[in-house]
Amino acid sequence: MQPLGQLRLGVNIDHVATVRNARGGAYPDPLRAAKLAEQAGADGITAHLREDRRHISDADIDGLMEVLSVPLNFEMAATDEMQKIALRHKPHAVCVVPEKREERTTEGGLEVAREENRLAHFIAPLREAGCRVSIFIAADRKQIEAAARIGAQVIELHTGAYCDAHAEGRFDDRDAELAALREMSAYAHSLGLEVHAGHGLTYDTVAPIAAFPEVMELNIGHFIIGEAIFRGLTPAIHEMRRLMDLARTGETA
Ligand code: PXP
Repeated sequence: MQPLGQLRLGVNIDHVATVRNARGGAYPDPLRAAKLAEQAGADGITAHLREDRRHISDADIDGLMEVLSVPLNFEMAATDEMQKIALRHKPHAVCVVPEKREERTTEGGLEVAREENRLAHFIAPLREAGCRVSIFIAADRKQIEAAARIGAQVIELHTGAYCDAHAEGRFDDRDAELAALREMSAYAHSLGLEVHAGHGLTYDTVAPIAAFPEVMELNIGHFIIGEAIFRGLTPAIHEMRRLMDLARTGETA
């Protein structure tokens, strides 16, 4: 199968805010990073307003809505507070993610199947407001089917387990995770869902995911922001873009 279209890169700027918040001041400024990412070719900017505001703040979201020329992908938990904020801003995209206060990062996908009714009601007003609603889930047939039933337009597949297995040298597990992601990308597409992927992706792990023909967007943050310390944000994004494009055309780096 030929790729369905050009693969978009959403750059997640949460961890610029993490560094800023370590000192409680105003720099580094996530808005400046977002504008630079935009100029470097990011197709969108992703930001997660967590319930505990550990990185991105409400003011950051206000600012992003004001300054961005590319779409904002607003990541949030399925809470009333976040729904209100999303309905006030009406960002291009909303990605609903699970959230636990004690976790270091978003650890797994959303449990859609068990909460189908609540989530269907939760996303309906967001869709009516014109937001493209995406649900962050594991590569699991049950969750994908539930996401389609509740009316999500997009699923984002959690690539964290694949990336962890790669980083820890568990290559059989990594390949099994990759096979599941590949199969579930095709399955979700067959149900009419647009397929995105993200979490934990690096220069070493991005190519196989970028090569899935059904995947239309990757959201990548922590690695790019970390890499920016060494080579600068623009070159860090350019290299990710280059590896994605190579993989998309079937070439290897
Ligand atoms: N996609 C979703 C839904 C996420 O929650 C995150 C992390 O906030 C990412 C992508 C980006 O993950 P990472 O920062 O590990 O690249």
